Amino acid sequence: MVSLSNFVRGLPKAELHLHIEGSLEPEQMFAFARRNGVALPFASVEALKAAYDFGNLQDFLDLYYQGADVLRTEADFRDLALAYFRRVAADGARHVELFFDPQTHTDRGIPFAVVADGLLAGMAEAERELGVSSALILCFLRHLDEDAAFATLRQAEPYLDRIIGVGLDSSELGHPPAKFARVFAAARERGLKLVAHAGEEGPPEYVHEALDLLQVDRIDHGNRSLEDPALVARLARKGMTLTVCPLSNLKLCVVGDLADHPLKRMLQLGLKATINSDDPAYFGGYLAENWIRTASAVGLTREDLVTLAKNSFTGSFLPPAEIAQHLAAIDAYVAAQPAIG
Ligand code: ADE
Ligand code: ZN
Repeated sequence: MVSLSNFVRGLPKAELHLHIEGSLEPEQMFAFARRNGVALPFASVEALKAAYDFGNLQDFLDLYYQGADVLRTEADFRDLALAYFRRVAADGARHVELFFDPQTHTDRGIPFAVVADGLLAGMAEAERELGVSSALILCFLRHLDEDAAFATLRQAEPYLDRIIGVGLDSSELGHPPAKFARVFAAARERGLKLVAHAGEEGPPEYVHEALDLLQVDRIDHGNRSLEDPALVARLARKGMTLTVCPLSNLKLCVVGDLADHPLKRMLQLGLKATINSDDPAYFGGYLAENWIRTASAVGLTREDLVTLAKNSFTGSFLPPAEIAQHLAAIDAYVAAQPAIG
């Protein structure tokens, strides 16, 4: 017998929905604030943690953008990334496609290059030190306008050979995908992959828009798709990957209880779901914790876990030969494991 926890931690997997700014741990926030001479509006780590009590996405975003203010130097971004990779490597991650929010930083005077060079340095070090590969996804903040997104894409131009795709995040309600159709078209013309948060708080219509108007390669979250059977059928038919984030959904009140999380239902409906951590420092768990707690809460079988691990690679933007190697590693791992108990 192998415990669920050990089985999950050893299972090769990829993380496809991770905001690197959301991996900023409270202790690290204080350490960066100290080294950069930034005053925080919290007296202690405990006081900060006590504020992690969110009623919805916007409650969280207000704190998340405030926290990101301690990130000032290339070393900060490098250290942040490396700390995340060390944690997720211990969770059995072999590959990560991570989001970053350049506008959160450039709007307060931090050059795009400081952010990108720092993250890329941390990613390169993680690959060398831990054997975890990674790719960057630039997210546009949807509460800002399309001109600002275009300006960000222009700033990213010198880095586009090191950025795999663009995404869309921040406050979903009132900011439908349609608002960003042209900048996504421009990103597509540059050969970038496309993803968008849709159906986290927003209605199924936003998921349709992400498919029709943005022509995304993946949907981030997608929970509310389940309200629309025709959309479920469409997503299943297309084999569209959903990057689902169970502990995020719990913390942001998208679900009231983890036992009610739709992940198992998504698999039963033929949807290509994956498990991810979103903003682990704020939501109470990194990648393996999301897997283990969800598996216990909704009753994921060994077969479900293997499907989820395979989905995380086949839904990634890795080249086919690398995906095949990861799938073979999963098969080899599972064949060597006794029953979970
Ligand atoms: N930015 C960071 N985390 C996010 C989330 N879960 N939804 C939308 N924007 C985000
Ligand atoms: Zn997210």
